[in-house]
Amino acid sequence: MCGIVGYVGEKEAQGFLLSGLKRLEYRGYDSAGIVTLANDGKATLIRAKGKINNLEEKMAQNRHKDNIGIGHTRWATHGEPSETNAHPHKAGSIYVVHNGIIENYKELKKNLSQHEFVSDTDSEVLAALIESFYKDGKYPLINAVVQALKLVQGTYGVAVVSEKAPEEIIVARSGSPLVIGIGHDETLIASDASALVGHTKRAVYLNDGEVARLTKNSIEIKTLNAEPISAKVEEIETNLAAIQKGGYDHFLLKEIMEQPKSLTETLRGRINSKNHTVHLGGPGLSETELRKINHLIIVGCGTAYHAGLLAGYYIEQFTPEITIETVIASEYRYRNAYIPKDSVALIVSQSGETADTLACLREIKKQGIKTIGIVNAIGSTIAREVDGGTYVHVGPEISVASTKAFTSQAVAMVMFGLTIAQAKGVKSATLRPYIDEIARMPEEIGNTLEVVRPEIEKIAKKYAEYDHAIYLGRDTAYPTAMEGALKLKEISYVDANAYAFGELKHGPLALVDDRFFEMTLLPKGVLYDKVISNLQEVLARGGHVIAVTNVEDFDMPVESIVKITTDIEIFAPILMNLASQLFAYYMTVAKGYNVDQPRNLAKSVTVE
Ligand code: F6R
Repeated sequence: MCGIVGYVGEKEAQGFLLSGLKRLEYRGYDSAGIVTLANDGKATLIRAKGKINNLEEKMAQNRHKDNIGIGHTRWATHGEPSETNAHPHKAGSIYVVHNGIIENYKELKKNLSQHEFVSDTDSEVLAALIESFYKDGKYPLINAVVQALKLVQGTYGVAVVSEKAPEEIIVARSGSPLVIGIGHDETLIASDASALVGHTKRAVYLNDGEVARLTKNSIEIKTLNAEPISAKVEEIETNLAAIQKGGYDHFLLKEIMEQPKSLTETLRGRINSKNHTVHLGGPGLSETELRKINHLIIVGCGTAYHAGLLAGYYIEQFTPEITIETVIASEYRYRNAYIPKDSVALIVSQSGETADTLACLREIKKQGIKTIGIVNAIGSTIAREVDGGTYVHVGPEISVASTKAFTSQAVAMVMFGLTIAQAKGVKSATLRPYIDEIARMPEEIGNTLEVVRPEIEKIAKKYAEYDHAIYLGRDTAYPTAMEGALKLKEISYVDANAYAFGELKHGPLALVDDRFFEMTLLPKGVLYDKVISNLQEVLARGGHVIAVTNVEDFDMPVESIVKITTDIEIFAPILMNLASQLFAYYMTVAKGYNVDQPRNLAKSVTVE
């Protein structure tokens, strides 16, 4: 979603603002803009609709050596994507960039008649509101920002500069992240630490309800109620290689292919292969607390939700007397659901910033239920607000479509389930096959990717003309099929839906015709014969079936086969999902769409 950057220091601000905005491109946007201030306060505002390249072209004709500035990539919420609606927004001498939504902007606007509004945005209202308290420099800028924000309902990450104070940036957050980078004689800001990588490793993450005044060599933080806060400096762990394509054509392919490594990071120090046990330090639950868990609620959106569904299927296989409910955050936050006291909630999020997931976390905490984060982005809001957590450590996921995070989220949650089972005294013989397979997964993922990639590239070309697909799976292959369908629809715009194989004849079987192909996930296992009967039903109706299977002597008369050669059995569906990920990737390449930044979508969904 929208991105914010800012710079105050001794270098040309335009350089960092442009490179920072490019780093944030992956989050999704439809216009961009910057404002810089000269020493005498003279502002240069440059905005452009569309890609950052358009902004860059305009900047090239308007180079300035100004040492302070703020920038923004906008993902339209109020008002269409246009240059006028792009940030920064101006009111008097004030310029504002804003992420989030000002819910009461209409009401606030009524009392701001002194300002002539030019855009359709809620953010311009914020700029005008700040100016109404600033009175053209009569009061300190930070005071004006605080007074304005006290009237605001909604969410914001905000950065403000004024022509009257060309040495300072004021930033504040409530529900939309902001990180401050500390350099030598320079202070940087970004809504996502990836924009700071290569500039500084030292960062201060702003908390909700905090506002900060930044100059090139000072950071003063306080709450909106004027209580001073001492800046907690943390290290940015991401390196440059992690946010570059590393020789791949697209981030998505890079991220799919790096799963042996990313899963290794998820497992590091957490599996003892000698005594076949799992140890997770992060959740911070004692053996007694783990033993008492009788109910798990798993909360997430999109891919994170699918990872939760999949993990739920596994955990109930080996953990006795536990009920598991995996829920979609945007639904759950408005349900009047009863949560038993002996529950623990797993809050699953790659970005750690998803608004709906965060709202559920806060709601669940209010009910006194322990919350455990399954998060990737270190220092993110969810990671900081949960009671304990397990970082998945997959490194930055730049492509909008989530891939490596899915695999690691699912495995991390299964490991959490294993720690519960261990505490509950489940026999080692029951748990050992799970633990041993998990330990071998990075290598098996590497082998599978290598073997299936060329095959899938060919198959995807064959199906590139299709616009409709049905994904089918049963048991643990069902959530996997859901994830495969999501991947295909979000990047290749194929209308793909997943069904549980057994549900086919209750409706979806009616769809089978020449407009559709069927992606079927067929792992070995106790339900295999039943799944084959379901498959027969599709074939009998002329279905165009792709079979992904680990059955060596698979001989059904399907159109295309992807063989997964492995002796992994329990987690074979996760290996099959690699095939779905690659299939979505190559379909999208064949269709000629933007792989890493699909239309209408954003990487981190910080609005409801
Ligand atoms: C799909 C995808 C989304 C995210 C969802 C949750 O490829 O990326 O469905 O999984 O928006 O995002 P996080 O995990 O950041 O909470």
